[in-house]
Parts: sequence; C-alpha cells; structure tokens
Amino acid sequence: MKIAVVGTGYVGLVSGTCFASIGHEVVCIDNNKDKIDNLNNRGVIPIYEPGLEDLVKQNVAEGRLEFTTDLKAAVAASDVVFIAVGTPPRPDNGQADLKYVYQVAEEIGEAIDGFTVVVDKSTVPIGTAEEVTAIIEKVNPEADFAVVSNPEFLREGFAIDDFLNGDRVVVGVENSQAEELMKEVYIPLEKRGVQVLMTRVKTAEMIKYASNTFLATKLGFINEIADLCEKVGADVDQVAHAMGMDTRIGAKFLQAGPGFGGSCFPKDTMALEYIAKENGCDLSIVKATIDSNVNRKLRMAEKVAEALDGSLEGKTIGVLGLAFKGNTDDTRESPAIAIIKEMQKMGASIKAYDPAAIEEAKHELTDVKYGSDEYSVCDNADALVILTEWTQFAVLDLELVKAKLNNPILVDLRNLYSVAEVTTKGLKYYSIGR
Ligand code: UDX
Repeated sequence: MKIAVVGTGYVGLVSGTCFASIGHEVVCIDNNKDKIDNLNNRGVIPIYEPGLEDLVKQNVAEGRLEFTTDLKAAVAASDVVFIAVGTPPRPDNGQADLKYVYQVAEEIGEAIDGFTVVVDKSTVPIGTAEEVTAIIEKVNPEADFAVVSNPEFLREGFAIDDFLNGDRVVVGVENSQAEELMKEVYIPLEKRGVQVLMTRVKTAEMIKYASNTFLATKLGFINEIADLCEKVGADVDQVAHAMGMDTRIGAKFLQAGPGFGGSCFPKDTMALEYIAKENGCDLSIVKATIDSNVNRKLRMAEKVAEALDGSLEGKTIGVLGLAFKGNTDDTRESPAIAIIKEMQKMGASIKAYDPAAIEEAKHELTDVKYGSDEYSVCDNADALVILTEWTQFAVLDLELVKAKLNNPILVDLRNLYSVAEVTTKGLKYYSIGR
C-alpha cells in the first residue's frame, strides 16, 4: 500500500515509520526543508523517541520510507494520505486550532489523483472530517476521495510499542471503498493481535477525546486522593495498588504525582470542554479535572516551601526533571516547568538537570542554572526536588546526595523511593500521599 503522511512530528514521524516497518511504502511530508534534509541525508530525527532513529534508518535503507517537501507528488502517488499536523489549543478558550489541518487539507485536495483516502490522524474536534471533506470538494470538485478518522493512542516515550502492539486501532469510516483500503493498511497489525474497530466517523473522533479525557480524570482523581491520604495518614501508593486489583478500575494511570502535562491531556480536556459548551452540554467532571490539575502544579511549590520551614526566599533548590514525564524531551505543559516558575516567584534560585529536556526547557525558563548530571544540582542546594519520573532519578546514591546538600531534604513528587529507603540514609523525605 502506498501511504503518505503529512507532518513529521511526534505522531506523523512515528506513524509513518511504523507503517513502513509493517510493510507499506511510505512518504513522510513536511514543509520544513531542514527537517526533511536531516531525515533524508543524515538520518537525524527531529524528536526524542527511544528506538525511532534506528527504525527510521532501517526502513530508509530497505527502501520503504522516504521524506519530501513535495506534498503534491507524494499525494498523487498515494492510496491513503494521513494528516498528522498539530492542533494546538487556542490560548483564550482552549478550542483546538485547526488552521494547519485545513491548510494541509486544501493542499491535499489540489493534489488528489485517483481514489484517495484522506485520514485525520491528528486529534481533531468531532465534526472535523466533514469540514475537511468540504474543503477538498471546494478546491477540487472532481476529486474522488473519502475522509476517515483514525485517531492515535501513542504515548511519548513508548510510541513505537503503542503503535505496533497497541490495545486497539479505531477507524471512523462511512465509505465502503475507503473501509477496504483502511482494512488493508492495518492487516499487518491485526495479524499481530491488535484489534481493529471500524465505526462511524464522529464516533471515532469522540473515542479519542473520551479516552484521553478519562485517563486525565483518572489521574486527577488519584492525585486528589493523595492529598487526602496525607491529611488522614493513609498511603496513596498502597491505596492505588489495591484499587488497581479491581479489574474494573485497572492498575495503570494511578500513580499520584505533581499533575499531568504533555501535548495531549491538557489540550484534549480543554478541547472537549469547548466542544461540549458549543453543543450546550455541561461536562462538569471534565472541567473539574482541568481546574484540579492547574491548581495542583501551583500547590506543589508550596509543598516544597513547607519542607523548608515555609519559605523559599533566598533558598537554592536542586531540581531533577524538566520534561513532562520520563523518556521524553518534551516540556509542553510540563508540571516541572510550572513548579519551577512558581518556586522562582517564591524567591528560590533553581539549579536543574534533565537527561533529555534541558534544551527544550531553555525556551520556557529564565534565570535557571543547568547541571551536567543528577548530582551537580545538589551542590550547596538547600533541598533536592524530583519532578520527573526518569528511571535514573530512582536509583540515586542517596549518601552522595546528602553529602552535597546544605540541608538533608529530598522532596520526591513522583514517589520514586520508599520512605524507609530515604530516611535510613539520614535524609528528611517528603513525597506525595504518604
Ligand atoms: C497521552 C495518552 O496516554 C496517549 O494515549 C495519547 O495518544 C496521547 O496522550 P502522553 O501525553 O504521551 O500520552 O503521556 P502519558 O504517558 O499519558 O502521561 C501524561 C501525563 O500523565 C504525564 O505528565 C505523566 O507524568 C502523567 N502520569 C501518567 C502520571 O502522573 N501518573 C500516571 O500514572 C501516568
């Protein structure tokens, strides 16, 4: 199957490369010439995703994957064209900004040659497939095409595995010819045991928002339970473990922390709330999840202050973690960034380290010193604060940490350690919900 993917970001590049790795002939398109040259000539990929660089190089070498800025030629030669460009939230009301999707839809419309399936892979509001259809019909009334919805369920840092071994593929399609082609696209995954669900277009668009918003709500719930656990003297990790034993609840996404971040949960919850408002529907639980998460990130700075006798004024804080989660360089809506800014407002000086996200963080932070490793930020710091769940932060030499700190204080907002592990090393330990 000849596939084109427009957009070489977290979704487009992973999807295109994985489509090639399951046997399709794939052209990934981007309007950023430098990105494309780097991908074609140097095998340099524009994002941090474990395993992706090797997979790109392997599929390029085997002739199933190439990169171009020439959308027209790529679309004309393809049976299925995936739209995988950004849909950022509007800053004022959280509505998904579809200008990139619509721009690409126009360009695709002009380039269509022969029956073509146009796929919304980007997370788009319910009803967008109809808009894309209208745009293509307008720019090319002769075009023989169908627009389908095929939302992604990829977690950054685990995206390749989530694509190749995901729980399900969802395709929203209402055209038999398009349905046949989409079935052909995903046959290799079905053979690996991945379930492929065919449904109506708007249902597929809703499945994506409902899934992400539910996961965000599950996180918001356990984070609030953690706060109550601290007050009543319960252990939230054990509460979550026991809750997860109930298969109706499930063990995943019950790790209490500083709040959720990333390019999806904050964006998708706000977009769904906006869609609901537009349709006269009050999703009060979604709104509560959004508000609870925003407030949480700010309250975490107060938690650090409490560990330092109530004030951060003039204090130096060593920080481990800048990315919104471990295994990524992405700092979009990162709790770490929000918490650092809040601690700076409270008068703290920050020294931070992250294995992958320092360069990204520099675009969002000022007056932060950056360390070369997880121990350099401890030198003469008044406390060490863990903000991102990188594995290497869970196996620190706590005696070395203690020796470097001015005060033996560890604030662990990801519960990477047990209380005993830390206190037996002579450190005061503050964590979430315990
Ligand atoms: C998410 C969805 O998981 C994925 O299915 C969708 O396609 C895109 O959005 P992602 O944003 O990459 O993926 O990150 P995810 O792994 O879901 O984590 C989101 C946030 O929740 C991170 O800040 C993470 O630290 C936090 N989190 C996650 C917790 O605090 N506790 C958990 O138990 C899990």
